[in-house]
Amino acid sequence: MQNMASVSIVGAAGYTGQETLDRVLAHPQLELVAIGSDSLAGQPATALDPRLNRNGGKRAPIFITNDAALACGADITFVCLPNERAAAIEPPARGVVIDLSGAHRFDDAEVYRRWYGFDHPRAGELGRWSYALPELVPPHGTLIANPGCYATAALLALGPLAGAIDPAGVVVDGKSGMTGAGKVPRPSMHAGAVLENISPYKVGVHQHAPEIAAHLGFDVTFVPHLLPVRRGLLATCYVRSGGAGLRALLEAHYADSPVVTVLPEGATPDLSRVRHTDAAEIALFDDGFTDRTIVICAVDNLGKGAAGQAVQNANLLFGFPEAAGLRLSGVLV
Ligand SMILES: NC(=O)c1ccc[n+]([C@@H]2O[C@H](COP(=O)([O-])OP(=O)(O)OC[C@H]3O[C@@H](n4cnc5c(N)ncnc54)[C@H](OP(=O)(O)O)[C@@H]3O)[C@@H](O)[C@H]2O)c1
Repeated sequence: MQNMASVSIVGAAGYTGQETLDRVLAHPQLELVAIGSDSLAGQPATALDPRLNRNGGKRAPIFITNDAALACGADITFVCLPNERAAAIEPPARGVVIDLSGAHRFDDAEVYRRWYGFDHPRAGELGRWSYALPELVPPHGTLIANPGCYATAALLALGPLAGAIDPAGVVVDGKSGMTGAGKVPRPSMHAGAVLENISPYKVGVHQHAPEIAAHLGFDVTFVPHLLPVRRGLLATCYVRSGGAGLRALLEAHYADSPVVTVLPEGATPDLSRVRHTDAAEIALFDDGFTDRTIVICAVDNLGKGAAGQAVQNANLLFGFPEAAGLRLSGVLV
C-alpha cells in the first residue's frame, strides 16, 4: 500500500472542485499535481482564490485545461464537471477516477434519458463504474461514482433501516442551499428569486429519486426544496416502521463511523453544525399521532454531499485513515 498519492482535480474552478481542492491541500498523504479549468487555464491558482499559496501552506499549481488535467497521469483524478460534460470523459488509463457528478451512478443508460435529460455518450461503459457511499457501499475498483448530495442524506438516514421498514409510502422531503445548483448563474438562482423564499423544484422528476431507490431497493417519493442559504442540506424521511428498534439499528450501524453521528433522543439535526464540514447528523423521532417514524439527516451538500465524501472514498481505496483531510467540526454560525 502506498503512503502518498498524487491528485488531479478536473473542474477545479467550480464549487465542488474548489471544495475538493481545499480537502486535498489539507491532506497529509495527497500531493496536488494538477488543477483543471477551461476558463482559468494558464493562470495561477490565486486567480480562483487569493488565499491559495500563502506562505507555509501546500502550493497549488497553475491551472491547465480540464482535458490536460484528466490526462496528467495522477494516482487519483477527481472529476468535478457538470453531468453531461462528465459523461463524455474518457477515463485515464492509470489511477483511480472519482466522479462527483451523476454521470456514472447508474448502469442503465435509460436512466440518463429519463431522469437526466440526455443520451449517455458512453453508455456501453457504464458497467465499469461502481457507486460508493462509504458507510453503506464501500468503494472498490478504479472508477468510482460518488453519490449525489440529496441521495447521500436520504441513504444515510434510511439505508441501515431498509430491511426493517414498510417499503410502501416512504417520503423523502429534501431541502438544500443554493450552492447545490453549481456556480453557473441562471435566473431561478438570482437573489431576487431565492432570498426570503423556499421553493419546491423538480417535484416528482428529480434525478436523485432513482438513485435513492436503487440503493434502498424500493421507490420513494422525493421532493426537493431550495433554501435561501448558501450551503447545507436536510433530508426529512417519513417511514412506517412496523415495530420498534429503528434507533438501535441506526446506532449500531454508525457506532464506529468517524463521519456520521446519531444524535441522542430528542436532539434535532442542525444545518449550522454540519455546514462547512464533511460530517453528517441523523436523528429519529416517533410521530406521536400516527404510526410513522421520522428520520432526519443533515449534511453540507458540498462536504459529505460531495467533496468530503469523494476524499473519504479515496482514503478508503488507498488505505489512508478514513477521515484524513476531512473537516469534521465547524463553526456554529
Ligand atoms: N454543488 C453541489 O452541492 C453538488 C453536490 C454533489 C454533486 N454535485 C455534482 O458535481 C458536479 C459539479 O458541480 P458543481 O456544483 O461544482 O458545478 P459548478 O460550480 O457549476 O462547476 C463546474 C465547473 O465545470 C467546468 N465546466 C467544464 N465544462 C463545463 C460546461 N460545459 N458547462 C459548465 N461548466 C463546465 C466549469 O469550470 P471551467 O469552465 O473553468 O472549466 C465549472 O466551474 C455536477 O455534476 C454536480 O451535479 C454537486
